[in-house]
Amino acid sequence: MSSSALHDRGNARVRTGRRAALVSAAVGTVAAGMVLALATAASAGTTLATAAAEKSRYFGTAVAANKLSDSTYVGILNREFDMVTPENEMKWDATEPSQGQFNYTNADRIVGHAQTNGMRVRGHALAWHSQQPGWAQNLSGSALRAAMVNHVTQVATHYRGKIHSWDVVNEAFADGGSGARRDSNLQRTGNDWIEVAFRTARTADPGAKLCYNDYNTDGQNAKSNAVYAMVSDFKARGVPIDCVGFQSHFNSASPVPADYQANLQRFANLGLDVQITELDIEGSGTAQANSFASVTKACLAVSRCTGISVWGIRDTDSWRASGTPLLFDGNGNKKAAYTATLDALNGGTTPPTSAPPTTAPPTTPPPGTGCTASLSLQTWTGGFVATVRVTAGSAGTNGWAATVTLPAGTAVTNAWNAQNSGSTGTVRFGNVAYNGQLTAGQSTEFGFQGTGTPPSDTPSCTAS
Ligand code: XIL
Repeated sequence: MSSSALHDRGNARVRTGRRAALVSAAVGTVAAGMVLALATAASAGTTLATAAAEKSRYFGTAVAANKLSDSTYVGILNREFDMVTPENEMKWDATEPSQGQFNYTNADRIVGHAQTNGMRVRGHALAWHSQQPGWAQNLSGSALRAAMVNHVTQVATHYRGKIHSWDVVNEAFADGGSGARRDSNLQRTGNDWIEVAFRTARTADPGAKLCYNDYNTDGQNAKSNAVYAMVSDFKARGVPIDCVGFQSHFNSASPVPADYQANLQRFANLGLDVQITELDIEGSGTAQANSFASVTKACLAVSRCTGISVWGIRDTDSWRASGTPLLFDGNGNKKAAYTATLDALNGGTTPPTSAPPTTAPPTTPPPGTGCTASLSLQTWTGGFVATVRVTAGSAGTNGWAATVTLPAGTAVTNAWNAQNSGSTGTVRFGNVAYNGQLTAGQSTEFGFQGTGTPPSDTPSCTAS
């Protein structure tokens, strides 16, 4: 089945902590005959999210709101992932079922779950030919253009400050060799509909990265060349675009292209981020595992490939479940594809899951200020994203908290990889379950978004 056939099927709506493992100590003999035990900071992740974080990347999954009551599902989600994409809940038909009547109930559940658990959110998708509500399908021309602009404004404003990246426009190019835009009611409103959607999204949520997302663009071909030309033109003309998403739905008819990494790299070279946004690979066993490993390695080899999201957790959660395309089986067990992905994230080795031998630092380090924190900022008029790097002192940490002093009038709207107490004045950010334990010298990053003037002081850090 071709990838586009897969899309048609899916779009037809048939549907019915991680722990930093550590590691070694080297024993060095100095000339005088003294023996020094040197704890190294070498470590590797034991979950997808921690392993990806070690490489400064996220690892995400599509999430369905109606599965948040499934404890097996949520257990894997909370353990393994630090980014979520609502699978259907932010689409036009879900968020604006009647014109001007917005419904965020299910999307808010997913965003709330992410925030409670220190995960970030990829918003998906603001403008798309598919999964439009009936009323929009029946519009055309300037009425549809105005409805699209209002939709982008309303949804991006509702989630302002809570979204890491938005798929602003999804799947706007035709398959095959034409390099043309896909025909759709949106396309027929005028060729500038894509840039209008991006400019509108930037105004509504200046803190979110704005992505163009598509499939069958994973290797160099006529379709990806057409997207490349559009993105180059946007960069040249100052149309706000920050990232390109590669859906990466693969099967035997549409395998991982040999030039996958090269294709990611050429987009990154345009000066924007690339993300693998909907990864699933039909198959089983070693062949499937090898394909997941090669995709993961390709992302790690491209410095501006900032993260990977798989399109569901267990095979049975997949939009194409019969192809068993995901990392966990229907019972929630890790597949060979999981281990291969984790190994690839860890650079080829998975740390032992049992405690390392005698060289581990004490499990209860002495109390005190055993960590430091540093702050970096991305700012715009009226808001900012802050990234805080926490580094453990010589005793390591079992937990940590960084305290940030905000100027008057400034408020935190969203935090990831940390839990904040309060949102104004002196705000304390404590570790979440998966990033509290740091070995001596090890670092972890968390972030928050705010409105108002950014903080200027170095955060203080305390370890437990
Ligand atoms: C799919 C969902 O997984 C299905 O539940 C739904 O029935 C159809 O859409 N490209 C996209 C995603 O951008 O939104 C699609 O998700 C899969 C293809």
